Amino acid sequence: MKLLAIVGTNASFSYNRFLAQFIAKRYSDKAEIEVKEIDKLTPFSRTDMADDTIKAWIEDIKNADGIVITTPEYDHTIPAALKSSLEWLGSHAGPNVMKMKPVAVAGASHGGQGSSRAQEDIREILLSPDMSANVLPGNEILIGQAPSKFDKETGELTDEATVKQLDGMMDNFFKFVEHANK
Ligand SMILES: Cc1cc2nc3c(=O)[nH]c(=O)nc-3n(C[C@H](O)[C@H](O)[C@H](O)COP(=O)(O)O)c2cc1C
Repeated sequence: MKLLAIVGTNASFSYNRFLAQFIAKRYSDKAEIEVKEIDKLTPFSRTDMADDTIKAWIEDIKNADGIVITTPEYDHTIPAALKSSLEWLGSHAGPNVMKMKPVAVAGASHGGQGSSRAQEDIREILLSPDMSANVLPGNEILIGQAPSKFDKETGELTDEATVKQLDGMMDNFFKFVEHANK
């Protein structure tokens, strides 16, 4: 099983990057999980053709059996960079590339809500007609107070309760992806 763990930000330091990296490492015995960055992607334009970075992005998405997206919350929604990366996938550049693609959502924030509103936002985006992704229901991973739950030096998720919750979510996601790709 081949999964992508998409880092939902273009920031050079990010707890959501730690989370994507942690997922790739912790579940490496269950699937091949590649951490995917969005920071080099050209901002979306409806009238521009896909350049080479976007063509490669679309190919990577096409070839994945499933996708995990870790998102911060900016102004109660997902960061613009993440929205732009998704817009390429639901447009002339990548028509149908997300159609029925299994996707799991997770996220971390500095505050208490763990990017809950951004996660609601992205679930809605993923279910829009031009995306029509197959989003894992429930299984929310809302990591609030992120600075106290990760080791800032190693990037390790150190909060045991959160790791346990993540184990449960990923277990469900592996089954979900397996079933979807049957
Ligand atoms: C422009 C901007 C808007 C933000 N808006 C919110 C918000 O609406 N809700 C929230 O919980 N945190 C908000 N934050 C804080 C971020 O969640 C936090 O700083 C951080 O980005 C967490 O993820 P990261 O470490 O992966 O970047 C905002 C941060 C920025 C830079």
